[in-house]
Amino acid sequence: TDLDRIRNFSIVAHIDHGKSTLADRLIQMTGTVAERDMKEQLLDAMDIERERGITIKANSVRIEYPAKDGKTYILNLIDTPGHVDFAYEVSRSMQAVEGSLLVVDASQGVEAQTLANVYQAIDADHEIVPVLNKIDLPAAEPQRVKEQIEDVIGIDASDAVEISAKTGLGIPDVLEAIVHRLPAPKGDRDAPLKAMLVDSWYDPYLGVVVLIRVMDGVIKKGDQIKMMKTGATYKLDRLAVLKPQMVNIDELGPGEIGVFTASIKQVRDTKVGDTITHEKKPCAQALPGFKPSIPVVFCGLFPVDANDFEALRDAIEKLQLNDASFSAEMETSAALGFGFRCGFLGLLHLEVVRDRLEREYDLDLITTAPSVVFKLHMKDGEVRDLHNPADMPDLTLIDHIEEPRIKATILVPDEYLGDVLKLCQDRRGIQMDLTYAGSRAMVVYDLPLAEVVFDFYDRLKSVTKGYASFDYQITEYREDNLVKMSILVNDEPVDALSIMVHRDRAEARGRAMCEKLKDLIPRHMFKIPIQAAIGGRVIARETLSAMRKDVTAKCYGGDATRKKKLLEKQKAGKKKMRQFGKVEIPQSAFIAALKMD
Ligand code: GTP
Repeated sequence: TDLDRIRNFSIVAHIDHGKSTLADRLIQMTGTVAERDMKEQLLDAMDIERERGITIKANSVRIEYPAKDGKTYILNLIDTPGHVDFAYEVSRSMQAVEGSLLVVDASQGVEAQTLANVYQAIDADHEIVPVLNKIDLPAAEPQRVKEQIEDVIGIDASDAVEISAKTGLGIPDVLEAIVHRLPAPKGDRDAPLKAMLVDSWYDPYLGVVVLIRVMDGVIKKGDQIKMMKTGATYKLDRLAVLKPQMVNIDELGPGEIGVFTASIKQVRDTKVGDTITHEKKPCAQALPGFKPSIPVVFCGLFPVDANDFEALRDAIEKLQLNDASFSAEMETSAALGFGFRCGFLGLLHLEVVRDRLEREYDLDLITTAPSVVFKLHMKDGEVRDLHNPADMPDLTLIDHIEEPRIKATILVPDEYLGDVLKLCQDRRGIQMDLTYAGSRAMVVYDLPLAEVVFDFYDRLKSVTKGYASFDYQITEYREDNLVKMSILVNDEPVDALSIMVHRDRAEARGRAMCEKLKDLIPRHMFKIPIQAAIGGRVIARETLSAMRKDVTAKCYGGDATRKKKLLEKQKAGKKKMRQFGKVEIPQSAFIAALKMD
């Protein structure tokens, strides 16, 4: 295809501003999919994505559009994941296209992820077309939002396209804007093949499917190709474009986007951002900026019922077929038995994986407290990564400890600003910036990631009644006064409850956790001490008093069926409990004990 008949673009937006609805509309209006095949949110393949309304895997569609100038254009849309946890995938997808539609909900205005995503587009030198969506809503204020885009983002919004992705209003204008306002791709057909590996996923029928963008040269079915970073070579069995279902094609030239299969076994053999070339006639230089995404948040996953361990192992292996960024290693916990230490790109990623394990594989899981990776600088000069507070070595061997810090951007209506500042301050935040974007405040904080991974999102949402938006990026590792705090229940340490905390906050956290646990652990026939300790020193203590009477004693009159029912109910309840020495701790306690409020 002629380069000037191709337009490659992505859509950037804050969650819920209508990215998927607009994509569906573009596909539908160009007849790419027959009306009867049109399912809502076509591009969000997985059920869970549909349900939670988030896009996890980048996906793509090729649209043929007969423009008003009488020429037919090929429009390639690459769908980018909207969430910060997938920032690296977003930045790769951006490198694969020349322009972006910046979708902003005209009734909401610019939000934290609008900013994060549009900055990625600007970094990738995109031409940007602002699109104001949801103008059918009575609360829409397109004029105000245009000004906000100009003030906050600094791009011209006077030609913003006003649309309703829901009713279809304005969609033809979006198509014309893509053709006339976004640049055509560049590339040299005669140069050696250079293509970017944009994404890959596992298809149960086809195996690993790889999404690529050709920069230079031509790729054909049957070619022998090489992945430049991993060094692996493959023979292409199939080359196709996504419409969005796969349609086979003989070749892809410069500027084009498509997929191939090549008997690749696992998704982890394909590294997003890698450069694909011909084995025989390789290109001289790989594409710049290759950086594999690495897990930053870790937690333990254990089956509630120890007999489910094998089932959990199988489920994790299956999920990993499709998600190379999620890591898992077997772990044994004195308290929880056999399980896995899993690594995630961020909190949302953790939640998505845990949900899928529980729902798709019908597993009951205990999730231990999410923890970040601490860097232990040992006295002998070695630097160790600590993924699990339970593995903390003897303190006398450690010189100092570093933790990851983030730059967090929060947009919030004025009236909640005070609460947001307090929350950030409570989480050891350092304020970097405070400006106004229309009637909303934009605050930038330097925060320890460890203070954010647990319940920061929840707290932020609750103190702002859902009106704040939040985005972050990891900036650096920095030294701080960090210690490991252990929890002892009935004098036994419960490893799954140990956490890394700042020394100055340890006592308050310890006290709060002991108080919570006192409420969360049911009474037993004996007295149970609950303690928090640093090293050998107890810093907080509560005592759960003994149960006075037999539970069945209140079933007066020896009503046998009633008594039996009560005992059965207790037995069922037990399934969700774990035994620690002589004490039973309910599954829910592991997360609840850590919530700060
Ligand atoms: P993520 O995939 O979570 O990033 O969300 P998204 O940006 O793709 O948003 P999505 O397309 O799922 O739309 C979010 C909600 O807004 C849905 O309930 C849509 O039905 C609704 N919506 C989208 N466009 C419009 C519009 O033009 N008008 C109105 N009234 N509602 C819209």
